[in-house]
Amino acid sequence: MRTAAIIPAAGRGERLGPGIPKALRVLGGAPLLVHAIRAVDQARSVDLVVVAAPPDDVTAVERLLADYEWGSDVHVVPGGQDRHASVARALATLPADVDVVLVHDAARPLAPPELVDAVAMTIRHGADACVPVVPLADTVKVVAGDKVVRTLDRSELRAVQTPQGFRRAALATAHAWAAGLPVDELSVITDDAGLVECHGVSVVAIPGAEEAFKVTRPLDLLVAEALLTRRRA
Ligand code: C5P
Repeated sequence: MRTAAIIPAAGRGERLGPGIPKALRVLGGAPLLVHAIRAVDQARSVDLVVVAAPPDDVTAVERLLADYEWGSDVHVVPGGQDRHASVARALATLPADVDVVLVHDAARPLAPPELVDAVAMTIRHGADACVPVVPLADTVKVVAGDKVVRTLDRSELRAVQTPQGFRRAALATAHAWAAGLPVDELSVITDDAGLVECHGVSVVAIPGAEEAFKVTRPLDLLVAEALLTRRRA
């Protein structure tokens, strides 16, 4: 079995503030994207990495990545309008002998390689799809405008991280279906597992890792810097 990791990295990252695309923001001396590729590249299970870059920055990203040494082949393709389109474009470029696909956000630079391997092994052992999950610290409520509609049972809820893992055929079928969906229906499905769930594929949840959190807001960058400093100490 050959395993490929797709890294969607074509988002603007506006919640992080104005400036260069989020994946290219620097964390501990290297762009977020470089850290995210390192996480999958250092995993024993990954043979090939495909990065979906902002379409205008493909050459710049290729040049940037050429400055680093990688254990796996790393390719860059132009991303799409939304995250799903970016993943679909990368998926379409995978060689025929790849049968396990991991999708890992560039915005999760500190995911441990052990987590990547745990997700890949779950698929290699027979699951069609797998996501790492962590319990929620906050209470979650459904709100309409300024009115609370109801409170959800937190004990049943989990936050879902990446890498998410898939048998290639399951992911490809779900993306082919998603390509025909109206934008408003697609925009509420915010991860790849959500797409395969809509197809009746069962998704296995395994324990996630605190360090695999998503860098979304400026505070997250500070936390990531602190974690990186601790790792290097
Ligand atoms: O917007 P969100 O935080 O959910 O983005 C998750 C990941 O999807 C990020 O790594 C981002 O770069 C990527 N993305 C993408 N193409 C887009 C939009 C987001 O690859 N058009």
